[in-house]
Amino acid sequence: MRQPGRFVTLEGMDGAGKSSHVMTVARILEASGQTVLITREPGGTPLGEKLRELLLNESMDIETEALLMFAARREHVASRIQPALAAGQWVLSDRFADASFAYQASARGIDWQRMRSLENWVLGDFAPDLTLLFDLPASTAVERTSRRAPEDRFEKEALDFHERVRQGYWRRREESPARFETIDASQGIEAVAQQVNDVMSRRLRQWGVA
Ligand code: TYD
Repeated sequence: MRQPGRFVTLEGMDGAGKSSHVMTVARILEASGQTVLITREPGGTPLGEKLRELLLNESMDIETEALLMFAARREHVASRIQPALAAGQWVLSDRFADASFAYQASARGIDWQRMRSLENWVLGDFAPDLTLLFDLPASTAVERTSRRAPEDRFEKEALDFHERVRQGYWRRREESPARFETIDASQGIEAVAQQVNDVMSRRLRQWGVA
């Protein structure tokens, strides 16, 4: 029987450059013989993509925002992520539940424990096997995003919002240190890709995959 696949997520502030490295990770996994499903949050399903459109563009109450993030996530996990893992594929998601703790809890102010109850309700003990956290000073991240037209209402937030996003990710990392690998995303694209390569090679060896 095929081994079930593993679930890898990429996280970080807007401007961390993580989306550019989804393909770096996918290529490494494919080179080690895995079939990879690449997906993202919010989104990843037809319903989730409709919710994404609302979440990124409509202003709303912060609890509504958190609930919609998790509603989209529930659909994503049930209809795509878990079936793919069960079929032996590896799943690579550009953001997952840590983002809700960083953005809706730490940055927007929803109580951390309340967010954990929601996570527990929606996900139970389902969690990524590995999370790559693309970390950099908030000022650098904001400087990068300010060079392009703001794409959504999260990118338009001020520096202190992004500072709290960063701290939220750190708190999640403190809560599950073994799941996280931190990538220094303040470096140039080549140096970041090298770190991603090193981390993935080490993890794949630990898992007995490469
Ligand atoms: P992302 O797709 O990473 O943005 P980009 O368009 O730059 O690739 O994420 C979209 C935004 O959604 C991002 O600003 C973070 C936010 N977000 C949350 O606030 N909570 C969540 O749970 C998730 C998954 C994303």
